Amino acid sequence: MSTITIDHVTKKFGDNTVIKDFSATIDDGCFATFLGPSGCGKTTMLRLVAGFERPDAGEIRIDDVTVSGKGVFVSPEKRQIGMVFQSYAVWPHMNVFDNVAYPLKIMKLPKDTVRQKVSEALEMVHMNGLEKRMPSQLSGGQQQRIALCRALVAQPKVLLLDEPLSNLDARLREEMRCEIKELQQRLKITVIYVTHDQREAMTMSDVVFVLNEGVIEQSGSPVELYRDPKDGFVESFLGKVNFLEGEVCGDRIRLAAKEQYIDRKTDLEKTVEIAIRPDDVYIINNGSFLHD
Ligand SMILES: Nc1ncnc2c1ncn2[C@@H]1O[C@H](COP(=O)(O)OP(=O)(O)OP(=O)(O)O)[C@@H](O)[C@H]1O
Ligand SMILES: [Mg+2]
Repeated sequence: MSTITIDHVTKKFGDNTVIKDFSATIDDGCFATFLGPSGCGKTTMLRLVAGFERPDAGEIRIDDVTVSGKGVFVSPEKRQIGMVFQSYAVWPHMNVFDNVAYPLKIMKLPKDTVRQKVSEALEMVHMNGLEKRMPSQLSGGQQQRIALCRALVAQPKVLLLDEPLSNLDARLREEMRCEIKELQQRLKITVIYVTHDQREAMTMSDVVFVLNEGVIEQSGSPVELYRDPKDGFVESFLGKVNFLEGEVCGDRIRLAAKEQYIDRKTDLEKTVEIAIRPDDVYIINNGSFLHD
């Protein structure tokens, strides 16, 4: 287990600053999720933590050890991090055993130890017996399990998962979601999980960081963000919401499209936007609805 500290990190690609003065602490054993639209810097932030990119400013620490910072850079293989990448899950030219064994071979562990650790890791994701199969002979879900297995085999302190379920169908996603969460709790590992799927973020995370253009828009537990989003961006990212235009009329708000009123006092003036969660709508007998 490990605490990850991202301390005022900035990352530029040429003139493009994609991570802007980013600070976050991910506590020991925490399941943290980076949630945000395409291009907001999720993968870049993970690659910075893993050590595949160097920050232009700021520091990253794992426990009390600075791994990226002024004059300091610990290479990825020395960071004790397991990672499942977004674009490719497993190496197509290696069979299951070699895929999973790869991190251990790099560590130059004895053959017997490698065999035992691979076997234990495969058992963990219910994949033993398939050691000789090539990735092309596996289903998408099985390939994802192998990728997860390879990320876990060297018993990393930190696990980074970059949209690991994006290529799976809905049923497998659900199954893998549960499996990943269960593994994380059993191994008590610190996880950063990247997704733009709000359901994944809501169901798996202890803490969610909503990212927008390289900065943290808001962070908190899924329930906190759902119940108290700081703006429309965060709100629209965490659960379905309907936006309606309204006009303030004394202690009530008139829905712009209809001669209908909501009894809600506000300090705002004139035109307002009303956000209504579907689960806060109560349908009553005569067909009209009320918002709590
Ligand atoms: N190696 C690179 N060179 C130049 N620009 C890059 C590089 N990697 C990423 N970028 C740019 O940085 C920004 C953030 O990219 P990043 O891959 O972190 O986004 P993301 O949030 O992971 O998006 P997605 O959800 O589509 O995976 C994008 O504008 C991207 O074009
Ligand atoms: Mg990405």
